[in-house]
Amino acid sequence: MSTPAAIDWLNLGFKYMQTNAYVRANFTNGKWSGVEVCTDPMFNIHIAAACLHYGQACFEGLKAFRRKDGSVAIFRPEENAARIIDTANRVLMEPPPVELFIEAVKKTAALNFDWIPPYGTGASFYIRPLLIGTSAQIGLGPSRDYILIVMGMPVGPYYKDGFFPVRACVQEAYDRAAPKGVGNVKVAGNYAASMLGDKESKDRGYSISLYLDSAQRKFIDEFGTSNFFGITYDKRFVTPDSDSILPSITNKSIQTIAADMGLKVERRPVSFDELTQFKEVGACGTAAIITPVYSIIRGDKEFTFGKENEVGETLRHLFNEIQGIQYGEIKDRYGWMLAVE
Ligand code: PLP
Ligand code: COI
Repeated sequence: MSTPAAIDWLNLGFKYMQTNAYVRANFTNGKWSGVEVCTDPMFNIHIAAACLHYGQACFEGLKAFRRKDGSVAIFRPEENAARIIDTANRVLMEPPPVELFIEAVKKTAALNFDWIPPYGTGASFYIRPLLIGTSAQIGLGPSRDYILIVMGMPVGPYYKDGFFPVRACVQEAYDRAAPKGVGNVKVAGNYAASMLGDKESKDRGYSISLYLDSAQRKFIDEFGTSNFFGITYDKRFVTPDSDSILPSITNKSIQTIAADMGLKVERRPVSFDELTQFKEVGACGTAAIITPVYSIIRGDKEFTFGKENEVGETLRHLFNEIQGIQYGEIKDRYGWMLAVE
């Protein structure tokens, strides 16, 4: 295990790193235990555990930020609590109570306070709650027992160049979600479903894949790691409404900011043909923050937005606002930040 003193905060990337401790709570005999502090990242699990065979596994992702005065705050954890409850209910897992989830998330940040990147580095502390069904069973059915684990580690940008335009490609060969499937919740299997497509896109030189609606291939769904949004020439913020995309907390937040900036916010089905109307396109999510998208390729057609290697003014404004609130540089006017200590 490395120590915080040895970390190059400016060149972190998005990688697992072992920190001081993580926390865990167990659901057994119909009730949740309290939050337990653990340090050994290895633990025993039954070979017939439901999460291993039948995919009863889901997770969340949220971030804690160091502010100028050295204090730390977490971005909208109650939204992640609500989403893990929705996810758990969809796949018949035991949802953790909101209070337990928030306590576990806060404790993970507090236990690793020295691992939370210094203010001014642009890095943050990524918190990863994980829920798994652990009962030994071979017949198909929901687990009786569950473990909630919350770990965390310092991270830099998800895409290596940070706040810099990327090129995306439409994923034609595989779908990640189906109508009325599980694309709108954060089950682990969704990410396995997108790995092959993402790898093929990367091999072709595109850092990010765009998924279309799997029924008709007519509407934009989302990127493999983040939601899609576009800014039109007449200053509308347009983002897809679809049953098979993850309701992104970052997207919801930048919609609020965009409306405050005077943009008209439209959340509705977005046809692929509308791409030509966008002056700027972005991918948004906890890990991706706001990643500007310079181009989207589909077959032999490339759609471009703004200037290559240049971030558009609306995306820059949205990025500065959300990060300003997260790092405590701008007043938390919506009450989004939960102080850790
Ligand atoms: N869409 C997908 C598929 C994701 O994995 C994520 C990341 O969590 C998002 C969107 C963005 O959601 P959020 O902003 O809540 O992190
Ligand atoms: C997140 O942004 O928190 C996610 O879970 C996306 C993941 C692919 C890193």
